[in-house]
Amino acid sequence: MKKEFKRILVTAALPYANGKLHLGHLAGAYLPADIYTRYQRSMKCDVVFLCGSDEHGVPITITADQEKTTPQAVVDRYHALNKSAFEKFGMGFDNYSRTSLPLHHETAKEFFLKLHEAKILKEKKEKQMYDEKAGMFLPDRYVEGICPVCSNPEARGDQCEKCGTFLNPVELKNPRSKITGETPSVRETTHLYFPLGDYQKKLESYITEADKRDTWKENVLQYCRSWFKEGLQDRAVTRDLQWGVRVPLKGFESKVLYVWFDAVLGYISSTKEWAARIGSPDKWKEYWLDSATKYVAFIGKDNVVFHCIVFPSMLMAWNENSQEKYILPENVPANEFLNFEGQKFSKSRGWGIDVDEFLEEFPADALRYTLTMNLPESRDADFYWKDFQARNNNELADILGNFINRTLTFAHKNFKGEIPDRGSLNPLDEELLGYFKSVPKTAGDLFERYRFRDGTLEIMNFARFANKYFNDSEPWKTLKGDTTRCATTINLCLQVARSLAVLLQPVLPFASEKIWKMLNLHDTSAEAGWSSAGELGIPAGHILGQPEILFTKIEDEVIQKKIQQLPSRLPAPVEKSPPKPIITIDDFKKIELRVAKVLQAERVPKSDKLIRLEISIGSEQRQIVAGIAQHYKPEDLIGKKIIVVANLAPAKLMGHESKGMLLAASDGSGKLFIVTPENDIEEGSLVK
Ligand code: MF3
Ligand code: ZN
Repeated sequence: MKKEFKRILVTAALPYANGKLHLGHLAGAYLPADIYTRYQRSMKCDVVFLCGSDEHGVPITITADQEKTTPQAVVDRYHALNKSAFEKFGMGFDNYSRTSLPLHHETAKEFFLKLHEAKILKEKKEKQMYDEKAGMFLPDRYVEGICPVCSNPEARGDQCEKCGTFLNPVELKNPRSKITGETPSVRETTHLYFPLGDYQKKLESYITEADKRDTWKENVLQYCRSWFKEGLQDRAVTRDLQWGVRVPLKGFESKVLYVWFDAVLGYISSTKEWAARIGSPDKWKEYWLDSATKYVAFIGKDNVVFHCIVFPSMLMAWNENSQEKYILPENVPANEFLNFEGQKFSKSRGWGIDVDEFLEEFPADALRYTLTMNLPESRDADFYWKDFQARNNNELADILGNFINRTLTFAHKNFKGEIPDRGSLNPLDEELLGYFKSVPKTAGDLFERYRFRDGTLEIMNFARFANKYFNDSEPWKTLKGDTTRCATTINLCLQVARSLAVLLQPVLPFASEKIWKMLNLHDTSAEAGWSSAGELGIPAGHILGQPEILFTKIEDEVIQKKIQQLPSRLPAPVEKSPPKPIITIDDFKKIELRVAKVLQAERVPKSDKLIRLEISIGSEQRQIVAGIAQHYKPEDLIGKKIIVVANLAPAKLMGHESKGMLLAASDGSGKLFIVTPENDIEEGSLVK
């Protein structure tokens, strides 16, 4: 079943230009893609590696509104930031493009028109939520409301996260816009749909066949199977929006292509941009239109459906209607998620660390190594500061760095900085040499199968062994009585140093190049072939360069500080409201706050928001009405201790008198939490 390929096309998910990259992104898609590409280049494969910014979609327009700027300004900023963060991290992209470029817009329009002209896309009228205040149709996940199935008050328009039901936003009870908080209206709109269901059979056999040729990850196959089991549905490929690729059709002037439809085509336009840049504008065709090319698409698990189902079916639809036949991904090695110190990365909660910030303080290779050893290849994994320190100090510095350093220092001190000639080999040397010859294949086979953690572990174990070989050979002793023996040891250690530079180049490109310089070798470690790592590649008499420290240890205080900087308890996103003017203690004293006990609670008929509560404040019982029905069930309130403003002027709410008001905290998502005293304090107690 194995097929011989002439070249490899590698893509990594185009990150949204709507925020900064954090470590989770690197571990999900980018680092594995980079290791793979660097390894294949070292194997002398013809590889092209593409990425770029995904610059469309509603979230970008929302950011622009919030920042009172344009979407273009938002994407310009994040494109530059992310591109430079990737460079500092050592990503070896051949091209880092942008989906806002005219070249991309043309490519996406051409693709869309082909499918439209072939009558593949179906036109459908549908009812959709419209936010009058924001003046826009609301994407499904920007509508929130009560789940019609389980009454979860915070169901999203696309899905209720509590009961898992897939929803249509018009099914929500009491819908509200996440953008303005207003109740949206329903408007009719026309969209073009891609008939995904028609491609289900073909997609199933595509994945089965590809899996036979190239081992797919079990987690990716699982996702696909569950989508197939549910049955594929038509998907709208147009949206009512201003920002994006304009739909090139009459009557659709106010619409753009759905961001995912254009984004996946960004891989193709990035390849075109690259080809034009290197002066062979047609070269992109070799990579996309020749079945002798192997296409590997690296992504994180949240993108599986778009790369295993949506994108392949789009390409199938094109291929059915054109002489040009696009290749489909041979594999989509998606990773699971990386967490940060045991919890999900969360920008709003300040949990995690961005790539640029990290690299300001620590070297890229230390991060690359730690992430590689914790890649979420088959399950979610974590980044811990302590683990980062230990990996850097105990593995990179103490094993790899130490081996390189002691070998080079020894050669400089005792062999005038030249590589000495070997004599006859003893059993210890033979053992080292056997290991030496086997590592490129062992590690390479693992890299070939997208097992970057295990491959790197093999190489580091070899470095561990080399350190032990140095110790056991005791060159500092043989130097005195048996110089040939000592020379043999040092010759072999220098060969190992070269080999490690080649083998670790995909993971540690910066350190690898440093070792190369220290050894004073030709060209670069990236240009040396992978298989040369199993050969004794440095001739005797070769003059070495100067030894340098490869990895500096990270002190406890530095890591301690990083841990202390973590938000101790994750703060909730805070409701945005301008601060109020300062008041005096006397102002505050006018308010009488008391602990109350809820005796009875029921919903106010015909109201979505109100609950009528009978409360006791010790000396008296009274009725209050509170707007908490979307957050609490009446029966859950009975018996609860709450805090009320006892001296508030009475008011009538939907015909019910309210004597007082309960206190509740509200977070940025609009959720309400009743304020309750920590202890079961007597009702009527004053709150001061
Ligand atoms: N922007 C998407 C994300 O960050 C990924 C897009 S991948 C592409 O999740 F292929 F569609 F571009
Ligand atoms: Zn539900």
